[in-house]
Amino acid sequence: MSLWDSENSFSFNPGMAHLRRLRWLEGDRGDALARVAELRAGDHVLDCTLGLGQDALVAAVVVGQQGRVVALEKSLALYAVVSEGLKTYDAGPESCRVEPVHTGAHAYLRALPSGSFDVVFFDPMFEKPKKSQPAFEMLRRFAEHAPLTPEVLEEARRVARRWVVVKGAKHSEDLRKLGLEAEPGSRYTSVIWGRVPALPPARE
Ligand SMILES: C[S@@+](CC[C@H](N)C(=O)[O-])C[C@H]1O[C@@H](n2cnc3c(N)ncnc32)[C@H](O)[C@@H]1O
Repeated sequence: MSLWDSENSFSFNPGMAHLRRLRWLEGDRGDALARVAELRAGDHVLDCTLGLGQDALVAAVVVGQQGRVVALEKSLALYAVVSEGLKTYDAGPESCRVEPVHTGAHAYLRALPSGSFDVVFFDPMFEKPKKSQPAFEMLRRFAEHAPLTPEVLEEARRVARRWVVVKGAKHSEDLRKLGLEAEPGSRYTSVIWGRVPALPPARE
């Protein structure tokens, strides 16, 4: 399945996720998402921003076959192309499959019981567009651009058992607006990562 508009077309491609997965399988534990989220084998991960499916595919190999990765996408066009593409991706025996859902994150989170996932992850559209691959330019034209709000972040903290992790653009206010500090990371990437602990379970 391909998505076309007047400027370009786009089909699913695992892109850098394929390399990140191979590195993980070779024993390289440096992947930023796995590190910041402290992902472990068997974890259940809710990726609230599926996009091209790349971070979700990396999470899928890190949590392994006993784990679970559910990934939400609000744009119907992107959901259609990426969910069809993921069906054709050979995840291999070490990985679980990504379970895509066409929905907005806030409504989905509100309907979940507290403590449903070990980690909830957001990679919202960056405030300042960075130079990107053509597939990402296409994504930008179809994507949901509404920023992550403190209200949605709080809902995610209720749904998480361990961490809520947020990816943002370096030199932007993306994380600071949410009260998050950037975690120590590589000087050479254009993204930063923040995290906030899950809310303690509510007492009866
Ligand atoms: C920056 S991209 C995510 C890229 C993804 N992490 C990857 O590795 O390919 C953000 C995606 O999240 C989607 N999105 C943004 N806000 C959303 C929301 N509230 N609910 C569901 N999807 C959302 C956008 O449509 C877009 O496809």
